[in-house]
Amino acid sequence: MHESHIDASQPKPVLYQQLVQELQGLIAGERDFIANLANSAALIYHSLPDLNWAGFYLLKEGELVVGPFQGKPACVRIAIGKGVCGTAAAQRATQLVRNVHEFPGHIACDAASNSEIVVPMIRNGELLGVLDLDSPKLARFDEQDKKGLEQFVAALLSN
Ligand code: SME
Repeated sequence: MHESHIDASQPKPVLYQQLVQELQGLIAGERDFIANLANSAALIYHSLPDLNWAGFYLLKEGELVVGPFQGKPACVRIAIGKGVCGTAAAQRATQLVRNVHEFPGHIACDAASNSEIVVPMIRNGELLGVLDLDSPKLARFDEQDKKGLEQFVAALLSN
């Protein structure tokens, strides 16, 4: 079993630097994308504080389909342009949502979620899916989380 060495009380830039390093150690030499997504979701969920869901939606036949994740069972399919995930996919841009209840069309999979961040996964110009993190805390995510999670996705896709 992999033991995480991440100290969640570090300043966020240091925390994300450690998280990316842990990720690189976990996925080095493994080419199975789903296996790497599964370990990525577990790493994030057990390393970052105040999350109730962390995982992936993958683009399949023009819509997002739930992939490896940690948290409660989630909605299986999300249309491009719908909800926070579908918006991130359509705009190919990270969505930082301080209060999901104020986001038009937010899809409530877990009633505990109050804030959310969704980072698109784009490799060689191709949209592969999105990374989605939910928190029960309002305004859990900020620009530092956005930067750190975008670096995390970049490291995941460059493996
Ligand atoms: N809230 C997301 C749906 C996925 S769950 O949070 C796991 C959305 O609005 O796209």
